[in-house]
Amino acid sequence: MDMVRQVRFIWKPIVFLACLLPAFHAVGDVYGITGDLGPNPIENLQDRFGNWGLRFILITLTITPFRLRTGWSWLARFRRMLGLFAFFYVLLHFLTWLFLDQGLLLSAITEDIVERPFITIGFAALLILTALAVTSTVKMRQRLGRRWQKLHNWVYVAALLGVWHYWWQVKLDASEPIVYASVLAVLLIYRAWHRYAKPRGKRA
Ligand code: HEM
Repeated sequence: MDMVRQVRFIWKPIVFLACLLPAFHAVGDVYGITGDLGPNPIENLQDRFGNWGLRFILITLTITPFRLRTGWSWLARFRRMLGLFAFFYVLLHFLTWLFLDQGLLLSAITEDIVERPFITIGFAALLILTALAVTSTVKMRQRLGRRWQKLHNWVYVAALLGVWHYWWQVKLDASEPIVYASVLAVLLIYRAWHRYAKPRGKRA
């Protein structure tokens, strides 16, 4: 079996199932099978989905640098799926907030979005990720042409906003957002170096 088929029929389904594990784990914890949600179940769910959303954004962003360093071009075939999983977990994070935290109460929702800046920032990041998810299909890529890449570079803005959103609402221990911010900084520096500093002929 050639590499393209191996990726498509073996590795993609395996990675797909692996990406669903945090969601299965959450469902298991809701039903008390794999554990429990602790004393603040809504906060627990919201936090874990937010964290997985951010992790998947960063994992998606590591694909291209890793592909360029190793020359493993097949890695690009996982980028769209991983990006959509980032959107999936951020959406679950948002829906947990919307339905369980705010009880779908319009006044509370608008007040939270307008008056709590870290939520405004998170909301902006969600809007960007939504635009990227909607335009992630092959058809949209063809239709948008060169504008597609420009639009999808906004994933870096979404990542920055996501890290900022987390950092802003941390009260005591900022070690986790610092880890996310450091990973993002390395990815951004690599991207800038690859774009501007590397001699043109050596770019992949
Ligand atoms: C790209 C978009 C987003 C990302 C990556 C993200 C990620 C995160 C992360 C990592 C946390 C901290 C979890 C922890 O304490 O361990 C968090 C907290 C929170 N997020 Fe988001 N978020 C995003 C968008 C949103 C949106 C759209 C909303 C609501 C409109 C929202 C509402 C909240 C709230 C209320 C908390 C605090 C939860 C608590 O009290 O512990 N987030 N988010």
